[in-house]
Amino acid sequence: SLVTSKEMLLEAQKGGYAVGAFNVENMEMVLAVIEAAEENNAPVMLQTTPSTVKYASLEMYSAMVAARAKSASVPVCIHLDHGTDYNLAIGAMDAGYTSVMIDGSHDSFEENIKKTKAVVDVAKAKGIPVEAELGKVGGKEDDLVSDGNANTDPMEAKEFVERTGVDSLAIGIGTAHGFYVGEPVLDKELVSKVKEVVSIPLVLHGASGLSDEDVRECVQRGMCKVNFATELRVAYTDAMKKLAKEKPETFDPKKYGTVSMAAVKEQVTNRMKVCGCIGKA
Ligand code: 13P
Ligand code: ZN
Ligand code: NA
Repeated sequence: SLVTSKEMLLEAQKGGYAVGAFNVENMEMVLAVIEAAEENNAPVMLQTTPSTVKYASLEMYSAMVAARAKSASVPVCIHLDHGTDYNLAIGAMDAGYTSVMIDGSHDSFEENIKKTKAVVDVAKAKGIPVEAELGKVGGKEDDLVSDGNANTDPMEAKEFVERTGVDSLAIGIGTAHGFYVGEPVLDKELVSKVKEVVSIPLVLHGASGLSDEDVRECVQRGMCKVNFATELRVAYTDAMKKLAKEKPETFDPKKYGTVSMAAVKEQVTNRMKVCGCIGKA
């Protein structure tokens, strides 16, 4: 069934595991992610970035997820990832998204609070949970290779959460979107430090390219939601490319969709194991 992220993440926090949040681009990815969740009896979040929303529309992604979630045997949430502004965040809620992120991490501390608070005020009235970000995750969404980042200050995080009333918080610990050039340098102790002063669930961005050990330790230290995007896009397109190479006569889109869905499902299952959410639905 389609649910908000509120209870899902609080349950994860209580249970000491993380909910996997998987970025989807099309119907096949929606089906593959939810099927993986069902097979693993895991709660799951599907999310779309602004560039993905632009590719189809909020209504399209919301409708696809809702249609599949209706018959799902596990709780499913559809979340706006990296919402850039007030209008997009409100638009997502109006289109049926059951969770939104407002990302003011590139603004000043005060601007970020203002931007986040404005969305939280509307979302609270609608019963939709809000994720915000403080500190910076490196790289650029939709890019394969990542760059700079900024680690979160725990005391700022505490003040930010108190002043905005946000439901979950993405923090910078050295991760970046896309794959890493060389070894990522993570401040994993920072997760524990922020957790000590912030009571809401914490969110890890940029998990593609991180080792299973790194993700596992971040979850143990308090990350309750882990985002995976790039590696699913790569799994999806690699499977298509492989089929096109091996059987160039293939013209039925369903044939490509079938191999791509299998690849995404496998990747999602692997990451769910690392998040510890298997059997938690
Ligand atoms: P990756 O592309 O590194 O998995 O980052 C995912 C993410 O943080 C989506 O918001
Ligand atoms: Zn992200
Ligand atoms: Na990454």
